Amino acid sequence: MEKKIRILTGDRPTGKLHIGHYLGSLKNRVDLQNSGKYDQYIEIADVQALTDNFENPEKVRNNVREVVKDYLSIGIDPNKTTIFLQSMIPEIAELTVFYSNLVTISRLERNPTVKSELAQKKDVFKGSITYGFLGYPVSQAADITCFEGEIVPVGDDQEPMIEQCREIVRKFNSIYGETLVEPKTYLSKATRVKGLDGNDKMGKSLGNAIYLSDTPDDIRKKVMQAVTDPGRIKKDDPGNPDICMVYYYHKLFTNEEKVKEINSECKEGKRGCVSCKKELAETIIEYLKPFREKRAYYDEHPEEIDKIIKEGTERARIVARETMKKVKKAMKLDYFE
Ligand code: TRP
Repeated sequence: MEKKIRILTGDRPTGKLHIGHYLGSLKNRVDLQNSGKYDQYIEIADVQALTDNFENPEKVRNNVREVVKDYLSIGIDPNKTTIFLQSMIPEIAELTVFYSNLVTISRLERNPTVKSELAQKKDVFKGSITYGFLGYPVSQAADITCFEGEIVPVGDDQEPMIEQCREIVRKFNSIYGETLVEPKTYLSKATRVKGLDGNDKMGKSLGNAIYLSDTPDDIRKKVMQAVTDPGRIKKDDPGNPDICMVYYYHKLFTNEEKVKEINSECKEGKRGCVSCKKELAETIIEYLKPFREKRAYYDEHPEEIDKIIKEGTERARIVARETMKKVKKAMKLDYFE
């Protein structure tokens, strides 16, 4: 059998996943999984999550199973994709230490992802960055190379992380000999989904997200609060759909024919915002229905979630041990082999 291309990706378990995550990266993972061409690994990056949540270990812990449930509900199949927990693979931590010699402090300080995250996390670091957070690109390089990830499908905000990983791989291989696999980024044609309030980003801290785990009533309530054309006061005022979040979501979830109809009805003042919102809510509810059904099954069977995490982690650990053997040999640390 032809060897499948290894995909490695991951998420920090710091919150429930929303429809922005789904359209941005999760759907892509389901498609990659189902194409049958890849051997996909998904890391629950709990250790990485602690780098900016070290004071909230229970937040990280509580989200591990939730995130896995989100994956399973959208169709990640544990028989096709290996889901594993970072903290249960000690080889990743070991590799991180080895790689730390191959990267300079100033290079990490210049990493654009680290810089922009630091700017957003002033409340956590108060102007003074920790060794752990500054070093998270090194740890992420360990995540990827530990499993010989060839393709890392991430959004453009994570591209500097992959570049940093490639540099570490090249440095390692040039000093210790060809050992590590250099990953490629696969930029997903990700739709970056805006928030219900019109904010550029959907996010839990912004309170503008529809979660994959939301109930139909949650969705109805949230959609009712979505921002519409502020210039439209009366129902038959002509509206501008291009500045309306309800129209924006219709474009993501409603079929093309209907979207055209909505557009012209809005412009002609023949469509009220309230009914437009009601329709949108029902469309999103319907779209998420199969996810809710799968989730309900796992809500009833929490022991299966644990089994999936344990089995996935065991499978991943086998690969990690192999990589560690090669790395130690290359670094002349294989004393008793
Ligand atoms: N840093 C990624 C994020 O914040 C999550 C992540 C951890 C990851 N390890 C990874 C992504 C390895 C790709 C590959 O979204």
